Amino acid sequence: MEKSNITNYLDLNKERFLNELIDLLKIPSISADSKHKNDMIKTAEAVKHRLIEAGADLVEISPTTGYPVVYGEKIIDASKPTILVYGHYDVQPADPINLWDSPPFEPIIKKTDIHPEGAIFARGACDDKGQMYMHIKAFEIMMKTNTLPCNVKFMIEGEEEVGSPNLGPWIIANKNRLIGDVILISDTSIIANDTPSIDTGLRGLSYMEVEVVGPNRDLHSGVYGGAVANPINILCKMIASCHDENNHITIPGFYDDVNELSDLERDEMAKAPFNLEDFKKDLIIEKEHGEKGYSTIERTGIRPTLDVNGIWGGYIGEGAKTVLPSKAFAKISMRLVPNQGSQKISELFQKYFESIAPASVKVKVKAHHGGEPVFVGTESIGYQSASLAMQETYGKKPLPTRGGGSIPIVALFKKELGLDSILFGFGLDSDGLHSPNEHYGLFNYYKGIETIPLFYKYFTALSTKKN
Ligand code: BES
Ligand code: MN
Ligand code: MN
Repeated sequence: MEKSNITNYLDLNKERFLNELIDLLKIPSISADSKHKNDMIKTAEAVKHRLIEAGADLVEISPTTGYPVVYGEKIIDASKPTILVYGHYDVQPADPINLWDSPPFEPIIKKTDIHPEGAIFARGACDDKGQMYMHIKAFEIMMKTNTLPCNVKFMIEGEEEVGSPNLGPWIIANKNRLIGDVILISDTSIIANDTPSIDTGLRGLSYMEVEVVGPNRDLHSGVYGGAVANPINILCKMIASCHDENNHITIPGFYDDVNELSDLERDEMAKAPFNLEDFKKDLIIEKEHGEKGYSTIERTGIRPTLDVNGIWGGYIGEGAKTVLPSKAFAKISMRLVPNQGSQKISELFQKYFESIAPASVKVKVKAHHGGEPVFVGTESIGYQSASLAMQETYGKKPLPTRGGGSIPIVALFKKELGLDSILFGFGLDSDGLHSPNEHYGLFNYYKGIETIPLFYKYFTALSTKKN
């Protein structure tokens, strides 16, 4: 088959495309850590600059109460459809840094079993700088080869990893210029490099912090031990009582709104290739764990969870200190599935946690950021276009899957702009997102750049047919 202009241009520019991503990955844009404020602005500037170079108009660093959104657009014809591209330029903290084989902000290319062509190792390589940057390069290709078939608007935010607290207000304030037909996001995963897939839903999130307070000060655990409640003991017991012996969550009302799947839908889901032995081998665990009655894929895709993310209190220094601590703390998050609401679940958790506290302690419960679950399905023109595009570049029709992670802003796009998001991810779950040694396959990077223009092509064609 003859090569298209698009693949030709990609082949000729592969090295530069990679070097530009490497430059972006060198800036530690950690939104959670205020020490990196300047790096955040530097990254926004770099993204702005790259959008201008690629050919976007009206490119600006648009302020919010927090870190800015980089906006840019190319309107070729008002009668053509408009694709809104969303991505994020912020990354997770790199901690624990000592578990990285190479420094997190000094990108290097290494081969792995899963990525024999090489992968780029750096914080943010996959989540989301690598995946976000594919869109800027795909846009450059369409501009330079004169093949951009429709309008495009980019909004690249800097606060996704801290719950997008200021993006909602930004969307509302910018509604007029965000008019479009579909949201396109590459910030999720495919099943494997030879098994493309598209997420049809994402989980939501309720994130809580609890404090259990016992006596007014730390005590000698011999002098007082046995006669005064130890807040860490109590907290552990309270956390343990959030699950029953079947690993169901015990909070009253927790499952009330859960969208249960039909047997047919569950059979469909079970068709996606998943090897439990490989899953266990990868994580070096003897046995998987989870809610009784559900498969591993269902446990991460269509079932809600409750997990402790961190727990602290008492003495954790060197050696032993006999102390009965005055306070204990934990951060507890719940992943939610379609039809559950994060506000309601946070309230149910708070009520339950307060109700199970013994009179010997006081409990304080507070809610951090949350996010709503979403379901997008496979019926839309957007999904169909994404499916056709992947089918063309992977030679296989992508399977619909459910993503276990959360992108809270997707629900707001629907609510405020009335638009569905297409979760056009190209990473792998094993790429180490949020973990040490995060990486992104070169195969995945280039495959994404090659596939995105086809989404534009099919989306324009299918939208025009509909009208
Ligand atoms: N890109 C991820 C979400 C994701 C990853 C979805 C893989 C599906 C598959 C995103 O950057 C993320 O990490 N989101 C956070 C939510 C947030 C409120 C901090 C998450 O899921 O923990
Ligand atoms: Mn992300
Ligand atoms: Mn993330």
